[in-house]
Amino acid sequence: MDQETVTILDPSQIYRPDVSEKQFEGTEFKPSAKEVQTFRQFAEHSPEDDPQLAKVQNTYKLMHTHQTVEYVRKKHEQWGKFDHGQFSIMQALEFINTIIDESDPDTSVPNIYHAFQTAERIRERHPDKDWLILTGLIHDLGKVMAAWGEPQWSVVGDTFVVGCAYGDSIVYRKTSFDDNPDLKNPAYNSKCGIYEEHCGLANVMMSWGHDEYLYKVMVENSCKLPEEALYIIRYHSFYPWHTGGDYMHLCNNKDLEMLKWIREFNQFDLYSKCDSLPDLDALQPFYQTLIDKYIPGTLKW
Ligand SMILES: [Fe+2]
Ligand SMILES: [Fe+2]
Repeated sequence: MDQETVTILDPSQIYRPDVSEKQFEGTEFKPSAKEVQTFRQFAEHSPEDDPQLAKVQNTYKLMHTHQTVEYVRKKHEQWGKFDHGQFSIMQALEFINTIIDESDPDTSVPNIYHAFQTAERIRERHPDKDWLILTGLIHDLGKVMAAWGEPQWSVVGDTFVVGCAYGDSIVYRKTSFDDNPDLKNPAYNSKCGIYEEHCGLANVMMSWGHDEYLYKVMVENSCKLPEEALYIIRYHSFYPWHTGGDYMHLCNNKDLEMLKWIREFNQFDLYSKCDSLPDLDALQPFYQTLIDKYIPGTLKW
């Protein structure tokens, strides 16, 4: 694998204007006031005096302009060939070690720490759920697409459904979609668009990003993770749904049943960045046993 460093910014993890205790209703987790503040502060700044926020806004503008039904279909075709190489989970983790989140206050901390921090925080709370711990470790591995030339707006950030009206709670919803051709297409801009009511999320097309890509990789390689894990992988960036409450008219009972797991997971994903850096060498053997159990060997990417 090419070990060149790729700088990546994930707006999902730095710009969360609506984060609040309400988000964690129904879970055991209660964020501290400081934690809520950390993820809220971006909302109080304007892009003019905050270059980081300007980058976030720009990533969303590009995403909301170019992620159309046609674009997503092309991406499924392109990445569905799984012709980028064969790597184990540990190799892929080392690979995202070369991807640095430029929005992080400590820019020397690579993405791999976020993977282990998320997993370790889950392990503290759910020591009996090895599948959930492993999901924490791998959930962002789809970001390897950035190292293979995929633009950031097609890898990171909150996701949404294409092919029907955009949810009201999408970040920058009111200002950012003006140049997207699907916005004015009557086939795509009604409440259900090309879908049937309650057809189930498995039957709708999500904007392209690291969630959907890793989900496809897991399915292609017949991983043994339970369906709760696959839901978390596939929808953890779908904030307009799991946090905003939009798109419920497209959900079936299975989606609603799985929603609680995505919300449970989300608290560890968002807030684990506040923890101290884990000792990766010491943790490696434990995680290797989980990988061997659920996603052994090399995978097609
Ligand atoms: Fe993610
Ligand atoms: Fe994450």
